[in-house]
Amino acid sequence: MLIFILPAYCANGAPVVGVKLIGRSTPLDRGARAWDGRRILGDGKTFEGLLIGVATGTVAGLIIHTLISGVYRSPLEPIILSMGAMVGDIFGSFIKRRLGLERGRPAPGLDQLGFLAFALLFSTLAFGPPRGLDALTLILLAMVTAILHLGTNYLAYLLRLKAEPW
Ligand code: CTP
Ligand code: MG
Repeated sequence: MLIFILPAYCANGAPVVGVKLIGRSTPLDRGARAWDGRRILGDGKTFEGLLIGVATGTVAGLIIHTLISGVYRSPLEPIILSMGAMVGDIFGSFIKRRLGLERGRPAPGLDQLGFLAFALLFSTLAFGPPRGLDALTLILLAMVTAILHLGTNYLAYLLRLKAEPW
């Protein structure tokens, strides 16, 4: 299951490094504000990040698909998982802004698991429930994902890729 979900992890993590490397970024909401006067998404969700995330997750998944048979139900599943992860991440920022949380503020649970929930939802809608994803596996996957997310984000903070440790 960890191999299966790897495209979502790559999609979620790649923008942190990628946007830093290319050194330019265009906010998805182009600075626009919602009805509450706050940014729709904020400066942390960019076109460049979205493209880098989907591309990295898809490439990672396609490499897995060619090396190990039976992980994905279609060569399209990696891109579906990657797009789900990015939509979940963007949706999470939308919720955070509506809750009045500024860009970069922590939203425990949402930050770590929103992208996972949407990646699984997208692949379920496209291909049906992933094989072997029973309730216990789902709980374990959520726990492992949360720990990995906190760990990799802290590492990115130590490497000065991120301004906040979460
Ligand atoms: N990022 C991006 N575009 C995306 C997703 C992420 O450019 N679609 C980059 C941004 O540089 C962002 C970083 O990845 O700052 C880390 O992502 P995340 O923690 O999700 O964003 P935050 O800056 O914390 O913003 P938010 O409060 O909206 O989650
Ligand atoms: Mg964040």
